[in-house]
Amino acid sequence: MNLTAIEDRIEQCYDAIQAKIPQQPKVALTLGSGLGDFAYDLADKTIVPYREINAFPVSTVSGHRGQFVFGYVEDVPVIAMQGRIHYYEGYSMEDVVLPIRIMRRMGAEILFLTNAAGGLNTDFKAGDLMMLTDQISSFVPSPLIGTNPETLGTRFPDMSEIYDRELQQVLRCVSAENDIALREGVYVQFSGPNYESPAEVRMAKLLGGDAVGMSTACEAVAGNHCGYRICGISCITNLASGLSDKPLSHEEVKQAGIDAGPRFKKLVRESIIRMGKL
Ligand code: HPA
Repeated sequence: MNLTAIEDRIEQCYDAIQAKIPQQPKVALTLGSGLGDFAYDLADKTIVPYREINAFPVSTVSGHRGQFVFGYVEDVPVIAMQGRIHYYEGYSMEDVVLPIRIMRRMGAEILFLTNAAGGLNTDFKAGDLMMLTDQISSFVPSPLIGTNPETLGTRFPDMSEIYDRELQQVLRCVSAENDIALREGVYVQFSGPNYESPAEVRMAKLLGGDAVGMSTACEAVAGNHCGYRICGISCITNLASGLSDKPLSHEEVKQAGIDAGPRFKKLVRESIIRMGKL
């Protein structure tokens, strides 16, 4: 059978990773800015740096390591991305979502997306965790533009429930049981790398957004397309531009991620254990 260019690339990356990680993951976890440390808590780790995978795009942002970490949360096999590929680095959308497709090729069924985001909802404060219930990805190109190999997914995929209801319920239960406050809301993706202007933030609020960031929604579109069940958590690292009197800095974003670290880790860990039984 003739493979399309994208299928061929997925197979090449898959072969390179499988030579080092023969196990099949159940959960694929993407770790956002400042949240990457979670991967170090996995048991029986195997690390594969992105640069060792030919045909794989390499991330360049400070605070984003670039590697896959395979390991276990109790008995649940997890493949974590420490550092994602961002559209603002100049990569194509096909590059940006390539790792999502590779992890699906490895056999992962659940896609757990995390990120650092600015709060649009004025009830939120820096350090809050927000579960994604829906998203607006219309400000960046769809990662599905181009040839559509049917092996990846259907040409016109439904997006009426991007974030899986049952997984959302798991996150709600785990947060309640562990006394971890969990907000809920709609994530809006802009391309970055500049933070938004106050007028853009007002627009995103008017459109129904609760948090704004530079990743995730395109990954969720590709993840939904290729058949994952998806859940997502934003760590609200700051109030979005114009909602507080401080200018935004990447340092502040990274620090808030670090401060939310213990709550974030507990929520992700306990949720993965529960999701392993689904
Ligand atoms: N805007 C966009 N992306 C972000 C922000 C923000 O305010 N904070 C963290 N990531």
